Amino acid sequence: MLTKSQARLFFIIGTVLCAGTFLFLTVDTLLKVPTQTRSANLTPAVERGKEIWDKNNCMGCHTILGEGAYYAPELTKVYERRGPEWIRVFIKDPQAMFPGERKMVKYNFTDDQISDIIAYFKWIGEIDLNGFPPKPSLASGVTVPTGTTAKITPPEKYNQICVACHALEGRGGNVGPALDGVGTRRDAAYLDRWLSDPAAIKPGTAMPKLPLTDAERKDLVNFLSALK
Ligand code: HEC
Ligand code: HEC
Repeated sequence: MLTKSQARLFFIIGTVLCAGTFLFLTVDTLLKVPTQTRSANLTPAVERGKEIWDKNNCMGCHTILGEGAYYAPELTKVYERRGPEWIRVFIKDPQAMFPGERKMVKYNFTDDQISDIIAYFKWIGEIDLNGFPPKPSLASGVTVPTGTTAKITPPEKYNQICVACHALEGRGGNVGPALDGVGTRRDAAYLDRWLSDPAAIKPGTAMPKLPLTDAERKDLVNFLSALK
């Protein structure tokens, strides 16, 4: 049996230890927030983008950081997934990219507003979320069946980006030309130059310069060259 003073001591030590631990963990968490959220990158453009996001109720259809509605794709990692050029073209005229599919509202934002939204997506995408959202990506896109004798699987980037503007065997967007048989029209060197910078070949073209690594571009060139 504890005496009264032992019980008091037990209570006091227990309380101090637990409160101390609680305070330590709270402070530790608060100290980690700025690095995890990369708060140094919170530019005025990011803030304006967030305001546009709130005012236009994008969450009525989308989720970001897992919050919102489940009608449209989760957008936390959209910057990494699609890249800024793609997002810009998409927001300008969403329905042109996905004709006849679910529809995203056409907002008639100005170029500056779209830049702010993109800045906001970039910042959100850089938050350290301990692996959220889990892979495989929720928006892996359309998979293009290849009915030709030799089945060719499109590289991941094709389904993430190209399919929004180009059709193959009748599936995909129609902002750009269908890519069936592009390997007979264009050689690998041309395709490589085209994907590196379309405007360098054709000034004013509607195909944006897309964020592709050298390896991704090479895979795409091999894939396109095989479309005969
Ligand atoms: C009425 C529902 C709706 C609202 C509101 C909406 N979207 Fe969308 N959004 C969609 C749908 C549906 C898609 C899927 C693409 C499609 O099929 O058109 C989409 C796709 C997107 C994509 C491309 C995602 C991807 O990886 O393919 C972006 C970026 C985007 N929306 C941004 C926004 C922003 C920013 C707002 C607010 C200003 C917004 N959306 C408001 C329905 C909506
Ligand atoms: C935002 C829409 C858009 C996206 C995304 C897009 N393209 Fe294009 N693409 C176009 C348009 C528009 C053209 C026609 C350009 C012109 O003639 O000015 C084009 C042309 C092309 C051509 C030339 C075709 C020909 O017959 O000469 C190839 C090849 C091509 N795109 C491949 C790709 C690949 C691969 C991707 C993905 C990495 C991609 N595109 C993503 C819009 C897009």
